[in-house]
This record gives sequence, C-alpha cells and structure tokens, in this order.
Amino acid sequence: MTVLITGGAGYIGSHAVRRLKQAGYKTLVLDNLVYGHSEFVEADELIIGDLENTKLLNQVFSKHKIQAVMHFAAYAYVGESVQNPAKYYRNNVASTLNLLDAMLAYKVKKFIFSSTCATYGEPDEIPITETHPQRPINPYGQSKLMVEKILDDYDHAYDLRSVRLRYFNAAGADPDGGIGEDHDPETHLIPLVLDAALERRAHISMFGTDYDTPDGTCVRDYIHVTDLAEAHVLGLKYLENGGKTDFFNLGNGNGFSVKEVIETARKITGKEIPAKIAPRRPGDPASLVGSSEKIKSALGWKPQFPDLPAIIETAWQWHKTRFGRTAQT
Ligand code: UFG
Repeated sequence: MTVLITGGAGYIGSHAVRRLKQAGYKTLVLDNLVYGHSEFVEADELIIGDLENTKLLNQVFSKHKIQAVMHFAAYAYVGESVQNPAKYYRNNVASTLNLLDAMLAYKVKKFIFSSTCATYGEPDEIPITETHPQRPINPYGQSKLMVEKILDDYDHAYDLRSVRLRYFNAAGADPDGGIGEDHDPETHLIPLVLDAALERRAHISMFGTDYDTPDGTCVRDYIHVTDLAEAHVLGLKYLENGGKTDFFNLGNGNGFSVKEVIETARKITGKEIPAKIAPRRPGDPASLVGSSEKIKSALGWKPQFPDLPAIIETAWQWHKTRFGRTAQT
C-alpha cells in the first residue's frame, strides 16, 4: 500500500515515514522544504513541491497508486499566525483543499490529519477530552479547526474517511537517531533548553512565573514523537479496516511545568542550564493537559516513552549529535 506523506521532511512527518516503512508501507513524501530537511527523508521517494501547485498534485496522484494520505504539511508558529493570518489560512486551509480535491479526483478516501490541542483554546477543565468545546484563540488553531470541519463535510458528502489527531506538545527524537527536532527559528521549550545545555544560548527564558499553576510556570503535556508516529500508523490501519471518521487526542495525560522541564533537563544533561524569568508570552494558556483514553481504548495506542525524563533523554541524544560542537559534547 502506498501512502503519500505531505510534510514528510519535517519533524513529526519524518518520524511517521520511518514508522510507516517499518510497518511495511510504501512511502512517498511531498514537501516544499521550506521548513523540512531533505536529509530526514527516508521515504521510497521524495517529491519537492508545494501543495499550492495543483498541476503537480495532479501529476503525483496520476503517476502513483496512492491509497492513503497523511497530511503533516502546515505552518505551526502560533505567534506568527497572529501577525500574518493570511499565510496560515492560505497554506493550512487553502492548500489542504487542493490536496483533498486531488484525493477526490483520484478516489483516495483515507486521510490522516495533524490537528492540535490549540483547537481547544483556553480549556474549561483539565484533562481535556475530545468532547471539550473547540474555541481556538489564534489563527493557527483556527486553521486546523477549519480543516477538521471540512473533513466532517467531506465525509458526509464524498465518503472521505479521516482520522484527526490532536497533538499536545510533541518532543523527543527517535532513539535510532538520524532524525529529530530542528526548527528554524526554534521556539519550542525543550530544544531551547538543550541549546542552553550545549551553551548555544546563554540561558533559557521562562515566559511567565505568575500563572495559576503549582510553581507559577505554564504546564504542558509532552508526548514523544515516536509515539505520535505510531498513532498515525494505528489510525491508518483503523481506516483500512473500515473505521469511520474520528478524532483523537494525543498526549500523555501528565502535565509538566516549564520549571520541571528545565530541572529534568539539568539532571539528564548534567549541565547548569541558566534560567531567567521573562514576561509572559502572549496567547499561552496556563495549563494544557490532554486525556488520551479514547485513542488507547479505540485504537490500542500505548506510548513507549510516556515519561518526561525518557522524552528529554532522546531529545538530548539527538541534540548533541545535530548541534554539539563535537560528537562527545
Ligand atoms: N517557553 C518558555 N521559554 C521558551 C519557550 C517556551 O518558557 O523559550 C514556555 C512557553 O511559554 C510554554 C511552554 O514553554 O508555556 C511550552 O512552549 P512551546 O513553545 O514548546 O509549546 P507550546 O505549548 O506553546 O506549543 C505547542 C505546539 C503548538 C501548538 C500549541 C498548543 O508547539 O504547535 O502547543 O497550544 F499550537
């Protein structure tokens, strides 16, 4: 079975490709390499191109016998989405419509979609379950929610079956090496903390220490990228077995504060990691922790790396290889 993976050169997409290959699928990556890395692509084939290019999409679908699509390609900087929503709606929504059009034209009816906990907005209660109202507070979350709604309508009208995975905070790297987190610019907490450990930055800024949380810093639910990748394969198998359109949270159900992440990273790296208090970052909810009971019971998902130290350990191994001045750092 051939799977088209858009954004397969990115952080999460490249891990999904690896997992798909291990599960015996033929993999075809379509990526514009704006943020992706060609050296991360372990697929049978990499096509460099953009989902804006409907002619290219047509060629890809006519040339290859694609049976399912995993759609990772999207912009994901929350702050930028507030400054430049047009970029987000064009890429995350309009380009997704191009992809869905091509799927319908070639009768490809299985779709795995990268959604986000940002579709929930400020939570009413923790842990967040899938029945929590979706009220995004930024254009990034809004763009993902729009696609979720489109997918419901496409199911009713065209019988296009989808699994929407609402990720909490993806982190870590496959322990087998070779792929991991490398964003430019980097905004995520764990890689920035590890940058401080490697002395690639002088300190880590803690964005707000006066939140209504046990230690005053924001709490997040970190999920290992390999466990995320595994959930995509399970979602695909579910659709292959006739599963109906559905949506699932993907987190570990445990919240860790910014201070706890820094403290854990100090223990794992053995480095000082200086931390400074900085103002709150606009748009950050105090706490985001998800319940993933639904995907556990419906698809049998079982995380391999549910603990923060294990997640940070794999991130650290990757970070040293990718960014360390010497391999022994
Ligand atoms: N943080 C710092 N200092 C930093 C970077 C981050 O204190 O230098 C804090 C943030 O304020 C936040 C926490 O660390 O409280 C985690 O921040 P990340 O940027 O790593 O992750 P977010 O929770 O902001 O973002 C993640 C995904 C988004 C998604 C969002 C949902 O990366 O794609 O969750 O809110 F939209």
